[in-house]
Amino acid sequence: MDTTSDKNEGYARNDWQNHYDNDDLQWDLGQVAPPFIRLWEENKFFRGKAIIPGCGQGHEVVFLAENGFQVTGLDYAPGAVSLLQSAIKEKSLQAQVLHQDFFQLDDTHNAQYDLMLEQAFFCAIHPSRRPAYVETVTRILKKDGLLAALFYETGEKGGPPFNTTPSDILDHFSDDFHIETLEKTPHSVEKRKDKELLGLLRKK
Ligand SMILES: C[S@@+](CC[C@H](N)C(=O)[O-])C[C@H]1O[C@@H](n2cnc3c(N)ncnc32)[C@H](O)[C@@H]1O
Repeated sequence: MDTTSDKNEGYARNDWQNHYDNDDLQWDLGQVAPPFIRLWEENKFFRGKAIIPGCGQGHEVVFLAENGFQVTGLDYAPGAVSLLQSAIKEKSLQAQVLHQDFFQLDDTHNAQYDLMLEQAFFCAIHPSRRPAYVETVTRILKKDGLLAALFYETGEKGGPPFNTTPSDILDHFSDDFHIETLEKTPHSVEKRKDKELLGLLRKK
């Protein structure tokens, strides 16, 4: 992600789409984020109805679909949606792919999901949108639903990605969520070592 431009405004939809048009997905790990695989293997979340916002090409969407979740991948960049649709088709999987702004999910999504999984999305949105993020995830999760997230502590100014600290998470989520886990994960890929905060947040 280009951290030299738009430092104050963040990215608009077209800025993200430009990355897809230019095949410049610097954030894409090319695999499921290993901390999520560990969580699954350690039974930290259970099969159910899941949503992954800002999913990009959606390695995690494929992973949950392969493991029997009823999963929805959501992104507002057409390039992301088309990459994910191709992957789902190629693997003959069942998953819903929404071309949709996360903040404009309509009321039919209210209290629908057992799990929201995300990485590199909270840090992708401008910090001024964080209250709207919390409002949306609180609205769409069921009671006791789980937000499993990899938050990105870049330690840098500007963005995207915008620096995300433990106190940012506590400040924004504590009213609506029990913070079950919020810690640096040892399972990050090399380039994100010591920068990823694994958050397991349970909706009150
Ligand atoms: C940094 S990328 C991360 C993609 C993916 N999570 C990953 O880690 O590979 C951020 C993604 O969020 C999407 N995005 C940003 N704002 C969004 C919004 N308001 N609604 C839906 N998608 C959004 C962008 O289009 C982009 O694909």
